Amino acid sequence: MAEFRLPKNSRVQSGKVWPAPQGATRTTLFNIYRYDPDTGNNPRIDSYHVDRDDCGPMVLDALIWIKNNVDATLTFRRSCREGICGSCAMNISGSNTLACTRGINEVEKNGIVNIYPLPHMPVVKDLVPDLTRFYAQHASVEPWLHTVTPAPEKEWRQSHEDRQKLDGLYECILCACCSTSCPSYWWNGDRYLGPAALLQAYRWLIDSRDESTGDRLDDLEDPFRLYRCHTIMNCANACPKGLNPAKAIAEIKQMMVARQV
Ligand code: SF4
Ligand code: SF4
Ligand code: FES
Repeated sequence: MAEFRLPKNSRVQSGKVWPAPQGATRTTLFNIYRYDPDTGNNPRIDSYHVDRDDCGPMVLDALIWIKNNVDATLTFRRSCREGICGSCAMNISGSNTLACTRGINEVEKNGIVNIYPLPHMPVVKDLVPDLTRFYAQHASVEPWLHTVTPAPEKEWRQSHEDRQKLDGLYECILCACCSTSCPSYWWNGDRYLGPAALLQAYRWLIDSRDESTGDRLDDLEDPFRLYRCHTIMNCANACPKGLNPAKAIAEIKQMMVARQV
């Protein structure tokens, strides 16, 4: 099994290497980022041998196995275990993805899996990023139906064709894998909305029932909020739901142009 080595200039220190479980014949080594800002200590990497014959097939299974069997202090978010809640997003073997839908065998290299929190976000503890700003940006696009005409007696109706325009958008689970893989968001995340919030903005811009399209576009007409996307496409590659935020952003830019002619 190859040995895990931190890069020479890494500010993350090697931490504790926990002993391999006794009697295990098939193990995978998980190197996991650990950080507790309350201690004042630098981040470190702890290493855990997971008994694959006693553990489920997904990366989240391994994290739960470690927490239950080796180190109860390991901290991470999870809820649904089926790719719906978006809470288990983290950087696994170099890619932002969901721990619950990513198989250990898919990400293991030479018997090793490296796990970090989503990049370029403040860390609350271990694998838990602080998503306060990310959620505030989502809220800022006002992701709900805006109408001015009186509400119909039963429901706001929509044709099948118009409903289909929401496919590829409504499925977003707000996991933040896309925004935290976007270089523009890394450097300008305080002013650039990022791919997740912009995908949501587009979802409401093209909803045939919404009556605030002009106001919504006005709100995005800004050198930073929308136009920091440089079509690098990391977002589409990262999305564990197969969505394409870059395409949604390009569509918003086209709507901006169309209303000026
Ligand atoms: S396409 Fe735009 S939003 Fe997506 S990663 Fe690139 S810069 Fe970021
Ligand atoms: S677009 Fe995809 S990667 Fe981005 S927040 Fe939504 S589900 Fe996650
Ligand atoms: S635990 Fe809900 S998406 Fe992974």
